[in-house]
Amino acid sequence: MKTSPDKEVRELYEDTADSYSKMMDSEIELPIYSDTLSRLAVRIAELPGTIIDTSCGSGHMLELYHNNYDSSHSLIGVDLSPKMVEIADKRLGTKAKTFVGNMLDLGLVSSKSSAAVISFFAIHHLDTEEVILALREWHRLLVNQGQIVLATWEGEGTIDYGDESDVVALKFTQEQIESWVIEAGFVVDRCIVEPVEEIPMDAIYLEASKLWAHY
Ligand SMILES: C[S@@+](CC[C@H](N)C(=O)[O-])C[C@H]1O[C@@H](n2cnc3c(N)ncnc32)[C@H](O)[C@@H]1O
Repeated sequence: MKTSPDKEVRELYEDTADSYSKMMDSEIELPIYSDTLSRLAVRIAELPGTIIDTSCGSGHMLELYHNNYDSSHSLIGVDLSPKMVEIADKRLGTKAKTFVGNMLDLGLVSSKSSAAVISFFAIHHLDTEEVILALREWHRLLVNQGQIVLATWEGEGTIDYGDESDVVALKFTQEQIESWVIEAGFVVDRCIVEPVEEIPMDAIYLEASKLWAHY
């Protein structure tokens, strides 16, 4: 099934960026964020490179990471929505570089220049084939043993936005996500499915490492 084109996805987040950012002010306190990011800091402690959030939204995850777990790696925040990037930029100031871009094509970022890629709740806007392309693109960015931390909506079919939006976005099963991650050249270190407070869907939380390679 085809997801909505980027233009419609961008419009959705341009319209909701301020309310999304307010919602994240409290959401970021949930243990899933601190648990995921504290583990990430340990796993990349010895790795060189930047940390890139490829759909940074309001920038809350990068801020939490920098303030609480690791201020030594440089941060990059990318998002399709200029309004989101503006909000993230204000939040992060000199702590991160931010730019408007597409997670499928991060040509401005050099190969093997990142220690970690963060992608929380954004790949539901991609088709199946595009998820695999995105994972390959993130693989390109990462140093050997670099990490991805990924969250997305679990299930089959489309996401019901109710009256909020007509955007077509997809749920994926844990099996699909794990197999695509492996196909793209990663080892899955952790993958759990958990309910999300006040949302009638479960989420997949995955952590994976780029396979060590000689080249
Ligand atoms: C639900 S928000 C999640 C934001 C943030 N990751 C978080 O967890 O708070 C989804 C974000 O993905 C961004 N997005 C959607 N498609 C994208 C794409 N192809 N490339 C980069 N960002 C994208 C949207 O603009 C939006 O900011």
